[in-house]
Amino acid sequence: MKYISPALTVMTAAARKAGRGLIRDFGELENLQVSMKGPADFVSTADKRTENLLVEELKRVRPGYTFLVEEAGIVEGPDKTHRFIIDPIDGTTNFLHGIPHFAISIGLEREGQLVSAVVFNPVTDEMYVAEKGAGAWLNDKRLRIAARRKLNESILATGIPFLGHGDTAVFVAELNAAMATTAGVRRFGAASLDLAYVAAGRFDGYWERGLSAWDVAAGILLVREAGGVITDLGGGADVLGGQILASNEYLHPQILKLLKDAAKSAKS
Ligand code: IPD
Repeated sequence: MKYISPALTVMTAAARKAGRGLIRDFGELENLQVSMKGPADFVSTADKRTENLLVEELKRVRPGYTFLVEEAGIVEGPDKTHRFIIDPIDGTTNFLHGIPHFAISIGLEREGQLVSAVVFNPVTDEMYVAEKGAGAWLNDKRLRIAARRKLNESILATGIPFLGHGDTAVFVAELNAAMATTAGVRRFGAASLDLAYVAAGRFDGYWERGLSAWDVAAGILLVREAGGVITDLGGGADVLGGQILASNEYLHPQILKLLKDAAKSAKS
């Protein structure tokens, strides 16, 4: 990467340090799978410990910044113009089940604009980074969004509502529409990596409802800096508000229409 800001250097160092702990925890989990309560408690402790470590590491070098984090919520700092948005383990359910697809996600906002991003999968050692205006990168490789223009050649990723959350009827209608028109739909279970995969051109698009800002903040910048288009599911700019659609400029309007029509039909 040609330009790495001091903030991004700090963020990648914190993610690597937290990643080493998560790898140890992930290994330990194998010994705990026998009891149901064991792994769930263990993972929630790992989640909190990772979050604390990330906040401590980042606070040490950026003491005044505000934080929005999954477990502790908003941690106000005197500097209201900078905010870290952090998910210590995105893909917690994968982690709990021993599936090596989860990530540490750290986004940095300056005056409400996402400016730096890190999504790190410690198992595969894939470090996705982006800097506003300087591109998105996977390790040392520049990321570019896929160039496909036809839905019937495209793979989309999504998230499936679970445990009674979300609007199942709307999701089923959307899925039906995507199944009928695309080359396939995937559900990998970590929103930050879904967005990173869109940035890397692996998925042609990704949509989901019911998300939190920490799931997507870093991934949003990855997609933008890889040349992608990202909106909420109304086509608007509220991308941290819980619903998201990411793709390239050709497919985005097609997918948006598909999903809008499907949601409308589910409600009528
Ligand atoms: C979850 C993952 C998952 C998405 C869920 C999120 P978490 O985040 O990103 O892919 O479908 O909506 O809550 O809970 O593992 O940090």
